[in-house]
Amino acid sequence: MTTTATAHTNIALIKYWGKKDPILNLPTTSSISLTLNEFYTRTTVSQNASADELLINGQPFDSQRIHRFLDMLRDTLGDFAPLTVASENHVPTGAGLASSASAFAALTGAVTRELGLELDNMTLSRLARRGSGSASRSFYGHFAIWHEGHDDASSFAESLHAPDMPIALVVAEVSTAMKKVGSTEGMRRAATSPDYATWVQNSAAQLRDMQAAIQASDIEKIGTIAEANALAMHDLNRTARLDPFTYFTNDTTDILTLVADMRRQGLLAFATLDAGPNVKIITTQAHAPLIVSQLQAAMPDLHLEIATSGAGIHYDD
Ligand code: PMV
Repeated sequence: MTTTATAHTNIALIKYWGKKDPILNLPTTSSISLTLNEFYTRTTVSQNASADELLINGQPFDSQRIHRFLDMLRDTLGDFAPLTVASENHVPTGAGLASSASAFAALTGAVTRELGLELDNMTLSRLARRGSGSASRSFYGHFAIWHEGHDDASSFAESLHAPDMPIALVVAEVSTAMKKVGSTEGMRRAATSPDYATWVQNSAAQLRDMQAAIQASDIEKIGTIAEANALAMHDLNRTARLDPFTYFTNDTTDILTLVADMRRQGLLAFATLDAGPNVKIITTQAHAPLIVSQLQAAMPDLHLEIATSGAGIHYDD
């Protein structure tokens, strides 16, 4: 038997940036995301191997993180036979979006279905959270909320049922030679910032405001809150007591200046950034092409993509 699942990646509008339990991956704050139609991982799982085998885009691949995750699934769900896991990533490396959200969501969905378990998305989100926190949100289409919770059972994501709206994301990839600080390490450092407790507090208020903005289809407000939340997250990295750092490059700063300029011209454009230098610009479908052409004119080497709101996990059968 084989089972194929497709999960789309998501961009956090209210970020997850800190763990209160690193083993269970319980976050210090709840988070809200938008699932992206254009970027996804398609994973096929089959039970015909003598040891777990991983293939990404047809190439053998070794990942301790995925092996550990499969072992965690065996401990939690009961033992199962070795698996071949073949993933195709349609998250262009050029887009600067992490593929771990879509990868761990698709893997969790494909493995559990292959085992004949019909788990609901909340249960799946709890399992996927253990592989990558942001993956908990990728089971749902459009807007999702991951409740921080206080234990394994209470930390899960669910859909934020919202009206349809023409939201879009312009993804601007800047090239960098900087050594990457992984998200777990980045969170560990950020938590040592003297501003961390304030960030956690502000995040709770921003989460409430974001839910209201989403229900009102107010893209300007969604963007305003998301930008404030993301920039404050990146300030934590700079003000960390332990190994301060930044993901920003000169290009990142230039793009942020251009985004502010475009806003002054009347375009809807708000920036958000994750664990890297790439800037994602929250806008409307009508303004996205204008933003792309302005950025491209100012910075001809930028790689730009437009993404729109996408669906939750789906299966081939
Ligand atoms: O899911 P992880 O461990 O890759 O961490 C994701 C962290 C951010 O992308 C920066 C924020 C988020 O909520 O997705």
